[in-house]
Amino acid sequence: MSWGRRLGVLAGAGLAVGLGASGCFTERQNESAKIYATHCANCHGTQGEGLQRLIPPLAGSDYLVKNRLALACLIRKGVQGPLTVNGVEFNQVMPPADSHLTDSQITNLLNFIQTSWGNQGEVFTIREVSEQLQGCGASDGE
Ligand code: HEC
Repeated sequence: MSWGRRLGVLAGAGLAVGLGASGCFTERQNESAKIYATHCANCHGTQGEGLQRLIPPLAGSDYLVKNRLALACLIRKGVQGPLTVNGVEFNQVMPPADSHLTDSQITNLLNFIQTSWGNQGEVFTIREVSEQLQGCGASDGE
């Protein structure tokens, strides 16, 4: 049964209001999974596992916790130079996502990472992400 039809059925049953919010969350999860698959998985792996000493992992990364306030800019601007993830030093180049990803897409993407592969990071609001992006001069104002 399609999602749309299911919603229709639920609405008919008078349950749509109660379930609407979780439906929305599911769609956002799907969208951010797609963004991850398109823009990040090539390097970081479909399970966020990284690649030896070339690409740091996102699954279980202590970097995400220690650098929470820098993550939105890291995605938009890329990162290079030495950084340490779970005690392993990396010194490579991650290209910027630039304007390919809007503020809200970066928010959804970060929340996907924070809640995937066993990660239990604190989620982001779009407001918080936009503020971070303004801090690196890179907000698209959305
Ligand atoms: C071309 C390969 C490549 C792509 C594509 C890429 N990254 Fe990275 N990423 C890297 C490398 C290499 C580093 C480490 C850079 C360094 O050594 O300074 C890194 C570092 C990171 C870090 C910080 C370290 C860690 O593992 O916690 C995060 C977070 C991150 N990337 C997230 C993303 C997200 C989200 C995307 C998709 C928008 C993405 N990356 C796309 C290669 C890539």
